[in-house]
Amino acid sequence: MLATKTERIVKPALNIAGSLRLPGDKSISHRYALLSALASGTTKLTNFSTGADCASSLGCSAAVGATVTRKDDGIIEIVGTGALQASAAPLDCGNSGSTMRMLTGLLAATPHTYTLIGDESLSRRPMERVRKPISQMGAEITLTDGHAPLTIRGGNLKAIDYTTSVPSAQVKTAVLLAGLQAEGTTVVRESVRTRDHGELALRAFGAQIERTTDSISIAGGQNLQAIEAAVPGDISSAAFFLCAAALFPGSNLVFDSLGLNPTRATLLDVLTALGAHIGVLNLEEKNGELVGTVQVNAPSTGLTGTTISGALSAQLIDELPVLAAIAPYTQNGIRIRDAKELRVKESDRIALVASNLRAMGAEVEEFEDGLDVPGGQTLHGAEINSGGDHRIAMAFSVAALKASGDTVINGAESAAISFPEFYELLDQVAER
Ligand code: S3P
Repeated sequence: MLATKTERIVKPALNIAGSLRLPGDKSISHRYALLSALASGTTKLTNFSTGADCASSLGCSAAVGATVTRKDDGIIEIVGTGALQASAAPLDCGNSGSTMRMLTGLLAATPHTYTLIGDESLSRRPMERVRKPISQMGAEITLTDGHAPLTIRGGNLKAIDYTTSVPSAQVKTAVLLAGLQAEGTTVVRESVRTRDHGELALRAFGAQIERTTDSISIAGGQNLQAIEAAVPGDISSAAFFLCAAALFPGSNLVFDSLGLNPTRATLLDVLTALGAHIGVLNLEEKNGELVGTVQVNAPSTGLTGTTISGALSAQLIDELPVLAAIAPYTQNGIRIRDAKELRVKESDRIALVASNLRAMGAEVEEFEDGLDVPGGQTLHGAEINSGGDHRIAMAFSVAALKASGDTVINGAESAAISFPEFYELLDQVAER
């Protein structure tokens, strides 16, 4: 948990309206930052994520030899290393599980010893899921009680055929990054299809990847080439505004250049099922990623209700906190199951969503793998404990918009992990 420093008061809103262009997707930015370190040439990225997490990935790429320059016009240039360099200092992954897990795959073939560290929250998160496959491939990895600090000494890697133990795009990408540097063809299988930005980014940087319905294969020994790319707007950041707009009959919110990768856009289907009107225009493909304009309008009769379970829970994992936070305002409530992974994110998101909903006066039932949030409830402003978790701080800022009275978000600054502009943009689109 990050230290709780800043509180922020969020006042109720009357409506949500406006148009937004959001900073680049966090998952894509991480992958471009890490792949560019291995690639030959200079990668040029516009609309790179402004979150602290992706700055951790850029910092780690720089620490292993990439030259990272932030230009005045916001473009980030990354000159590849040729060969990853040793780092005397530990590689600081900050709050970012994506950085730590994917970096483990990136470094796996390098004959140096690195120590990967993170903040208090990251140092509690499970790393065995990445240690297991990458050490099977031939790297030596030690953990501290299953967690960071993680040390890795890379070596000559052999390809593996690996089925991930939990649905995790971070682990899948780590294995593919190691596979790119291994002898033979590495295969990754997953029971639920997780976000495929790793596969698409590897292709964009020139690697060949084969996909079947249940496997992804990558041959070792391929070289990557630098790219020029504009990172699509982050749909998981948009999620807070999409859910906010869905609550207010008469709302009208438009997002330009939003990432609409089908493995990430499930929230749009859920909001549609809840009764919101979602329009998608100007679809284009950029470096394999779908990008488009999205318009959301709330239903005049209020949102209905739904159950989210099975594969849907894995696909919506980052959007579940905000869906749960608006669930009391729906007619029939939202039931979430098969989402045990929420307990090992930046915080125990099931426990924190439940306690914060209760603080606002809601009835909610907590399960090991989810929550039942009945609909038809009214909430009042309260003190929210973000637990230093960006998505909890932002989810409850959205719940606050339809509550009576003011809400205080403790640890509000954690939003900057993924979305530093969040409160400013919220004030811009919330009519009060
Ligand atoms: C991410 C994958 C998900 C997600 C995280 C970003 C990624 O984590 O929750 O915010 O970029 O691959 P897991 O791989 O742990 O499911």
